[in-house]
Formats: sequence, structure tokens, C-alpha cells
Amino acid sequence: MLLLLFLLVLNFSSSWADSDSVYKSFLQCFRNQSKPLGQVSNIIFSLSNSSYSSVLQAYIRNARFNSSSTPKPVIIVTPLIESHVSAAVICSRNVGFQLKIRSGGHDFEGLSYISDKPFIILDMFNLRSISINLEEESAWVGAGATLGELYYNIWQKSKVHGFPGGVCPTVGIGGHISGGGYGTMLRKYGLSTDNVLDAKIVDVNGKILDRKGMGEELFWAIRGGGGASFGVVLAYKIKLVLVPETVTIFTSERTLDQNATDIVFRWQSVAPTINNNLFMRMVLQPLRRNKQKTVRASISSLYLGDADSLVKLLGKDFPELGLKKEDCMEMSWIESVVWWANFDHAASPDALLSRNYIVHFFKRKSDYVQTPISKDGLEWLWKRMIELGEPELVLNPYGGRMNEIKATDIPMPHRAGNLFKIQYTVTWNAAGTEAERNYTTLVNTLHGYMTPFVSKNPRRAFFPYRDIDNGISKTGTYEEGKVYGLKYFNQNFERLVDVKTAVDPENFFRNEQSIPPRTRKA
Ligand SMILES: Cc1cc2nc3c(=O)[nH]c(=O)nc-3n(C[C@H](O)[C@H](O)[C@H](O)COP(=O)(O)OP(=O)(O)OC[C@H]3O[C@@H](n4cnc5c(N)ncnc54)[C@H](O)[C@@H]3O)c2cc1C
Ligand SMILES: *[C@@H]1O[C@H](CO)[C@@H](O)[C@H](O)[C@H]1NC(C)=O
Ligand SMILES: *[C@@H]1O[C@H](CO)[C@@H](O)[C@H](O)[C@H]1NC(C)=O
Ligand SMILES: *[C@@H]1O[C@H](CO)[C@@H](O)[C@H](O)[C@H]1NC(C)=O
Ligand SMILES: *[C@@H]1O[C@H](CO)[C@@H](O)[C@H](O)[C@H]1NC(C)=O
Ligand SMILES: *[C@@H]1O[C@H](CO)[C@@H](O)[C@H](O)[C@H]1NC(C)=O
Repeated sequence: MLLLLFLLVLNFSSSWADSDSVYKSFLQCFRNQSKPLGQVSNIIFSLSNSSYSSVLQAYIRNARFNSSSTPKPVIIVTPLIESHVSAAVICSRNVGFQLKIRSGGHDFEGLSYISDKPFIILDMFNLRSISINLEEESAWVGAGATLGELYYNIWQKSKVHGFPGGVCPTVGIGGHISGGGYGTMLRKYGLSTDNVLDAKIVDVNGKILDRKGMGEELFWAIRGGGGASFGVVLAYKIKLVLVPETVTIFTSERTLDQNATDIVFRWQSVAPTINNNLFMRMVLQPLRRNKQKTVRASISSLYLGDADSLVKLLGKDFPELGLKKEDCMEMSWIESVVWWANFDHAASPDALLSRNYIVHFFKRKSDYVQTPISKDGLEWLWKRMIELGEPELVLNPYGGRMNEIKATDIPMPHRAGNLFKIQYTVTWNAAGTEAERNYTTLVNTLHGYMTPFVSKNPRRAFFPYRDIDNGISKTGTYEEGKVYGLKYFNQNFERLVDVKTAVDPENFFRNEQSIPPRTRKA
């Protein structure tokens, strides 16, 4: 029986004729489902369609998953209206295929557009409407909108409102908010997902539900537990936050010969405890300077206030940094968004609307630090980073509002007690499995070296920084899910399993790191 199933699966994914027949029954089901909606064949792309490759590649953001050996979907559906999403869910179940949901395609492991099982992609990029309600200080944002589009639309309506989402403007709302993403205002306002008021989803039966319709448990789960385990998020209603008319940014860099060790050591206790209006990201990079190998520590900051008060604040709380007013740049909040997105400072906010993205090969990992690393520990780490050469560490301070929100309020549990989160990054430009093996080995080795310095039992990880090394679900069992589930969600994992069991007991909405139902049915 298993063998038969295996052969069937193999057949579906490799045989042209069979994929064609799946396409035909999917299309027929889809037409049937959407009768009042007329022509739908212009949103369903089969493998043999001449636009298939360009539609597939349009939202691939990691070149690792753009090779000829990357598993490809049998069908791509690009819904134009909400009922198309319902039909896609019903008809994927109907043909017995896995459905992968993609909004911005930024999943670090490509889980929104690859699978080891025969699958269909539901590509949400057309469902990207944004409507801002300033009286209510809220907005409805389609899952297929990008962060850049959201920030831009807020800015068009108000110069004193913003949203505490991520830094990269091409990231999609669907994955970012359902996963618990964050940005430079995290210490002031928490995660993007801490600022969600309502949502609209399509459930496993194709029904469209809002917060009231889905109930508080499911609404809790899709605020950080990942949408893809529970349904298709159509849109979120978010709470806008206040930003001052003038904000200030600065950068500060030190190499080892410029007392970087002292600065990093102090940063660990200052950055998570200083005034909530200040976010100071720290990037640690091994590099060669004047023929010498060293490590550079670079701080990039956003301060929700003017330069004078920032200089005063840091003079008092972080004098070692020696920040002067001429190191600071005052600007509007939207200009700071443009600056953080690595656009030229002179770029206009229109740049945030671009969906262009330069694609590299990369691997990311995460960790949480709960007690400061000693100076001896840091000096040992510099040697290891210089040996490895490539991987970098991005330290993101927590504290502030993050300490006030209970670990159980939404699924993302890493709150008080965590000083900062580490993102491990390695990026390369050579195709092929050998380069991939080389670079991922380097970053995994650095992750191994960090073991004594980071959280334990479980070793925590940040869900939006998807990392397949945290565990993988092959058959959808509870035991498999628990391995990565505890790292991402800690004590909230069990409650996510309860929600999953209630809303999708057959485990239709699944991926390699989804929440399993308590008892898996075939
Ligand atoms: C360049 C870059 C910069 C980033 N910067 C930040 C940052 O500053 N802060 C931060 O927190 N994170 C950041 N991330 C991580 C990012 O938040 C996550 O990868 C996020 O999941 C991306 O959302 P997406 O819609 O673009 O991704 P996708 O790949 O489309 O989706 C990611 C996951 O969410 C699921 N999903 C997507 N849409 C839906 C939906 N509508 N309904 C249900 N499930 C859905 C997918 O199936 C998949 O499992 C960054 C990633 C990249 C590549
Ligand atoms: C189309 O819908 C009708 C009911 O509305 C159902 O009887 C029929 O089986 C459906 N056909 C397909 C191919 O889904
Ligand atoms: C490809 O698929 C699209 C979307 O369904 C459709 O509009 C188009 O006509 C198809 N092209 C070909 C050559 O079949
Ligand atoms: C994917 O690879 C193709 C070549 O096979 C290339 O043309 C395309 O630009 C690549 N796209 C991405 C997103 O990497
Ligand atoms: C490094 O620290 C020493 C001793 O505290 C100090 O004299 C020196 O000026 C510092 N160097 C830099 C570049 O900050
Ligand atoms: C991978 O690493 C090996 C050993 O260090 C090296 O010889 C090889 O050139 C590397 N290959 C690539 C593609 O980086």
C-alpha cells in the first residue's frame, strides 16, 4: 500500500500526462466552485503554460530554491478575489494535493513555494489592497501587500502614524504578520503581530471568517503561530502607532583595535534596557582591514525623537559610544524606513513600492541571549568568527515593550528574560550544492560555537527566521512537530496544537514545519 502510494506520488510529480489530468480536474472543480464569477482560467497556470516559470520565479527571494532540481508545483493559482481562495482550498483538497500559500515569498527556506510532496501554489500577490482609517487609527491590509506598500500608504495619509513591522520593504504581510515579524520599533510597540485587531481567513472548508466568525482561539493562533498551519489569511486589520514628526538615525562602527569588545560588552546590557524610543541593532562581521583580520561591530539605530535628546540620552547611558550630534541625522519616520531599507538617503518613499529584489543564495539561523556574554567569551568568539570568515551575526535588542507583553498573549513566546536575539547570516553567489554545503557548514559551525552563550531547554528560535535545522515534519505527527514547535513557541506549542486539532484535524494545511494536530488522521 505504501509502495503504491509512493509510486502514485512519484508519478504525479514527474509525469506530464498526469499533471495535465490533475490540472484538468482542478480547473473543472474551480470553474464549478466559482460559477457566478465567470472566467477563471486566466488565474490558473499549468506546468506547460508559457508564463508558468516567470510566475513561479517572481516571488522566489532565495536563489537556493531557484534551481532545476528544486521541486516545482503542478499548478499555480493567482486569485483576484476572495472567493478564488475558497475555490483553491476546496479544489486542492478535491485533487488531493498539498497547497502551499505564498504572499511575499520571503520564507528563508522557501516553504511557501517548494515541497517534497506533489503540490499547488496559492500565490496571493494580487490580494494586496490597503485601506487606512485614520479616525480609528487602523488599517485593513491584504495578505499580498508588502511592508513597503503598507508604510507608504500610511505615510500618504498621516505624517505621525506608522507601523512596527520589518525592515525589508518587499516582505509580504501574509507571512510576516501571521509569523510574528518585527522591526525597528519593537522596543516601543512590540511585534507587528502585537498590533493586530482583526483578520479575515479562509478555513479548510473554504469558508471566509473574520475574528468573530473564527473565534478567539484561532485568532490567537494566526497572530504568530504561522498562518499556513490553520488556513489562508486574506487580510489583517492592524492598529497604527504614533511616530514623532522627527526621528533620528545614526551608525557607529568599531573594529577590534578600536575597543569593539568593550562596546559590544556594554551594548548587551544597555541596548535592551535603555529608553524604549531607541533601537540599536548591532552587526558583527569578520573582515580584513589593512591586511589584518578583525571583527567590526556596527550599530544602526532608530530613535523616536530629536538628535539633541538622543545625544543626551546616550551621553548618560552609553558614554563609551561617544556619540556626537554630527553623527546623527534627523528625518521623518518614512525617510528612516527608506534609510533602513538600504536605499540611498535621498531616495523618495516611492522606492518602497518597488517589488524588485536582488536574489542571492543565503542561509539564516537564530538564537536568544539571556545573560550578557563575558569579555573573555567575546574575545574567544572573535577568533572563531575570523577563522570561519563568512558568517555574520546581527544582534537585535529586546526589552522595553517586549518585556511587558505576556509570553502567552500571542504564540510568539520570547519576551521578558531575553536580552537580544541573534540572526546568523551567510550569503553567497555561487550556484551548486558544493557551495551551499560549504557556506551552510560555516554558519552551522558558528551556531555550534554559540551554544554556551544562548538560551537552553529549549534552545529558542524565532519563527519568522525559518530554519529547517530546527526540525522537520515528514509525516505530520505531534512528535515531529514538537521538536521545532518548542523552539519557536515554547509553552504555547500545546495550545497551537489544540487550535490545529479543532480547526484542521485532517492536517490539510501543512508544511515541513507546521503545527500538527494532536492525533493525525491519514
Ligand atoms: C530580505 C528579508 C528581510 C527580512 N526582514 C525581516 C525583518 O526585518 N523582520 C522580521 O521579523 N522578519 C524579516 N524577514 C523574515 C520574514 O518576516 C518572513 O520570512 C516572513 O514569513 C515573510 O513573509 P512573506 O509573506 O514574504 O513570505 P512567504 O514565503 O510568502 O510566506 C512565509 C510563510 O507564511 C505562510 N504564508 C504566507 N502567506 C500566507 C497567508 N496569506 N496565509 C497563510 N499563510 C501564509 C507561507 O506558507 C510560509 O509558510 C525577512 C526576510 C527576508 C528574506
Ligand atoms: C460541480 O458542482 C456540482 C454541484 O454544484 C457537483 O454535483 C459536481 O460534482 C461538481 N463537479 C465537479 C467536477 O466538481
Ligand atoms: C497560461 O495561463 C494563463 C492563466 O491561466 C492564461 O491566461 C494563458 O492563456 C495561458 N497561456 C497559454 C499559452 O496557455
Ligand atoms: C531563476 O533562475 C533563472 C534561470 O534559470 C533566472 O533567469 C531567474 O532570474 C532566476 N530568478 C530568481 C528569482 O532567482
Ligand atoms: C580604547 O580604550 C582606551 C582605554 O579605555 C582609550 O584610551 C582609547 O581612547 C579607546 N580607543 C578608542 C578608539 O575608543
Ligand atoms: C568548498 O570548500 C572546499 C574545502 O574548503 C574547497 O576546496 C572548495 O573550493 C569549496 N567550493 C566552493 C564551491 O565554494
